[in-house]
Amino acid sequence: MATNRTFTMIKPDATAAGNTGKIIDRIIGAGFTIKAMKWTQLSKADAEAFYAVHAERPFYGELVEYMSSAPIVAAILEKDNAVADFRELIGATNPAEAAPGTIRAEFAESIAANAVHGSDSDENAAIEGAFYFNTRELA
Ligand code: RTP
Ligand code: MG
Repeated sequence: MATNRTFTMIKPDATAAGNTGKIIDRIIGAGFTIKAMKWTQLSKADAEAFYAVHAERPFYGELVEYMSSAPIVAAILEKDNAVADFRELIGATNPAEAAPGTIRAEFAESIAANAVHGSDSDENAAIEGAFYFNTRELA
């Protein structure tokens, strides 16, 4: 059964470009409640661990370098149908293919520097949220 939580990161390109506030506004405006949020920067080892699932992909090294290059904002979000609805809000991985009005269409620079992360399943949302937050940090 689907749970009502997902996990997001506002990625280094978006924090560096000063788009953090606008993206949070879009997320809240789309009906998501923030359960936990932090501004932090991943070490290279942190990024390798977070993206271990992609270790065999050709872009893994580039992804790790990029995700540890500047601060990110990590957050746990709540809404009915959270995982699927958030993926719809952010749009396709490649901003050139992201639907108009999606966060990536508006803010992403490239397929690699694509402004936001959204969990792809309930299971991964729980794993990714627990990477950053303990239960005492949940509102
Ligand atoms: P995310 O996990 O960040 O929400 O993105 P996604 O599901 O849409 O895409 P995924 O396949 O999980 O890829 C994870 C992230 O790796 C970077 N990427 N770079 N250079 C490339 O061809 C390439 N492909 C993917 C992106 O930052 C992507 O979001
Ligand atoms: Mg993904």
